[in-house]
Amino acid sequence: MQLRGPRRVTAVLSTVMITLTACSASNGATAPTPAPLAGGVRATVAAALPGAAGIGDPDFPEDGNGGYDVGHYALKLAYDPPTKNLSGTASVRATATQGLSRFDLDLHGYTVHRVSVDDKPASFTRRGDELVVSPASPIAKGAAFKVAVEYAGRPDPVRESPNLGTYGFIPTADGAFVTSEPNGSKTWFPCNDHPADKATFDFDVTVPAGTTVIANGEMRAAPATSGGTTTFAWRESNPMATYLATITMGRFDVRTGKTRGGIPMYAATDPAFRRKLDFLYDTSARTTDYWATVFGPYPFKSTGGVIDDFSSGYALENQTKPMYGGFEPDANIIAHEIAHQWFGNSVSITRWKDLWLNEGFATYAEWLWTEHDKGVPAQKTFEDMYAVARAPLWEYPPGVARRQDLFNVSVYTRGAMTLHVLRRRIGDEAFFRLLRTWTDRHKYGNATTGQFIELAEKVSGKPLGDLFDAWLFKARRPTILR
Ligand code: TRP
Ligand code: ZN
Repeated sequence: MQLRGPRRVTAVLSTVMITLTACSASNGATAPTPAPLAGGVRATVAAALPGAAGIGDPDFPEDGNGGYDVGHYALKLAYDPPTKNLSGTASVRATATQGLSRFDLDLHGYTVHRVSVDDKPASFTRRGDELVVSPASPIAKGAAFKVAVEYAGRPDPVRESPNLGTYGFIPTADGAFVTSEPNGSKTWFPCNDHPADKATFDFDVTVPAGTTVIANGEMRAAPATSGGTTTFAWRESNPMATYLATITMGRFDVRTGKTRGGIPMYAATDPAFRRKLDFLYDTSARTTDYWATVFGPYPFKSTGGVIDDFSSGYALENQTKPMYGGFEPDANIIAHEIAHQWFGNSVSITRWKDLWLNEGFATYAEWLWTEHDKGVPAQKTFEDMYAVARAPLWEYPPGVARRQDLFNVSVYTRGAMTLHVLRRRIGDEAFFRLLRTWTDRHKYGNATTGQFIELAEKVSGKPLGDLFDAWLFKARRPTILR
């Protein structure tokens, strides 16, 4: 069924066009006048213009930025827990996707001391959470460039989120708990803060000796201590959405090794959760190896998990290092966060309204884990959920996550139910082949709900529009059960 695809594309396109029009209208006057060329109209089209203040996600108009694509972030930072001062330099390597007279980075708070573009001083202004950078000379479309931002100050995490409490860089008694979904990375580094622009990361973080810094990926070098401070050097060498980046720090007990399948492991617990370190280690290793047999090869170079004592009440699937905030995770939630490494982290969403591609899949992974580990069929879990009269499940269509209630239970549970009904309709062989084709085709990239529906129809050879329409997009309890 073709209904949704075109409608969604049209909606996005018209928003992008409105954004562009608004930009050229309000900023056209300040754009540098191009040198006169033969064919004046062409010269104007090729002129460098300001990059848009948002990447074009209609529900999050200020998130991310337009006009460039980040390839790599190099963050050289220092954090002092007693004074809560974060300082340092973020170097951002990017490619211009249009001629740029200026561009934005997302940054919340801090004093910005200096900005350079390609090592030449650049002027900048602050406008809400936008850091507006004007390079000394315009950047040509297609050109690679490097922005360096020197900044310092006290982190101010996002606090008023309707169903997530506090997120971003959260100072704790002994360090910081850093979990940034959906848009809290701007509370600790200047960035293109939207999952549609993924990049690799280097982290060099200096803290008082005795403090451990845990970032994504693997350590590039052993921690180096001198003069009372220690510097940790981490690298995430696979593309990562900004919200999955972390530099969680504090006192930690650490256990490293390899999973039985040979994947390097890093597990850490705050001293208050020391008794859970082995369980965290073993369960993260087991679920990583098991999912590799179900979803396709593990996409990253290492796996693991971290339990901190900050009571967020949530876990977040930070790339290679899921984090559990102030509670003892059970195997189901570990299976959920590890499943996100495939669904959300390697294959990322392009727009936040497609969040069920992350949460519905990770929730269904919990049901699959229960089936595998406890012998309780996913069908039983489905029936229990279907019997629930809980209104949000039936009133909130999970295929269109809403900004004000992004993490609604429906996005998780009804998203998972959608996958189960799909599995019943197309059969286990086609269903699991579909999951592996999905993770393979979009590995390290971005995807949309429309692409999933299309692939499901292609892999199964069955029309599935009625199923997805009822389960993802209708505000009532579906009657289609297979
Ligand atoms: N993605 C998380 C999960 O499902 C939930 C979450 C969303 C979260 N935003 C967060 C957790 C911010 C911590 C901080 O497991
Ligand atoms: Zn999740």
